[in-house]
Amino acid sequence: MKKLAILISGRGSNMEAILRNVKDGFLKDVCRVELVFSNNPVAPGLEKAEKMGFHTETISSKGKKKDYYESQLLELLLSYEIDLIVLAGYMKILSPLIVDAFPNKIINIHPADTKKHKGLHGYKWAFENGLDKTKITVHYVDNTLDGGEIIAQREVDISDCETVAQAEAKGLAVEHKLYSEVIYKLCKG
Ligand code: GRF
Repeated sequence: MKKLAILISGRGSNMEAILRNVKDGFLKDVCRVELVFSNNPVAPGLEKAEKMGFHTETISSKGKKKDYYESQLLELLLSYEIDLIVLAGYMKILSPLIVDAFPNKIINIHPADTKKHKGLHGYKWAFENGLDKTKITVHYVDNTLDGGEIIAQREVDISDCETVAQAEAKGLAVEHKLYSEVIYKLCKG
């Protein structure tokens, strides 16, 4: 059983999809979610996780020096002997302090092809550039912005979407499946 930490900052729809699969689905026998962590104590995802019976922890990053905040986070993650850190809408860039402590053990999901678009607002970027498809990407986190090795990608046809919100809804449905599938493979080795 691999020990997971899921890091969020907001609504946590990817987290919720993963937690469902851990609770009653195909991730049940391969991993255990030790904690759902947020740097934002009022992240709506925290309440969702608690309602589903998962353990949550928060360390507010607000107003803290990054080094100090991350040393607290590192201590927390080490104390749980985490095997895989799953970033799911975690809005802070991890610094080498944490990345180097967990080589190839931190993954992230991104709404676009990380070779073509890095950073925020992937669905907006795809929609506004008139792309027919966006390529949801799951990648390892290294010390570059969205530049780590790609683990899996899945195309989503957004050509019929009339708004960014529609493109996002369509893409998120795919994210919710793809992320758990990747976690399953990584946990199985
Ligand atoms: C997702 O679109 C994910 O690809 C990106 O941030 C968003 C998080 O959404 N990294 P949620 O919090 O999982 O609903």
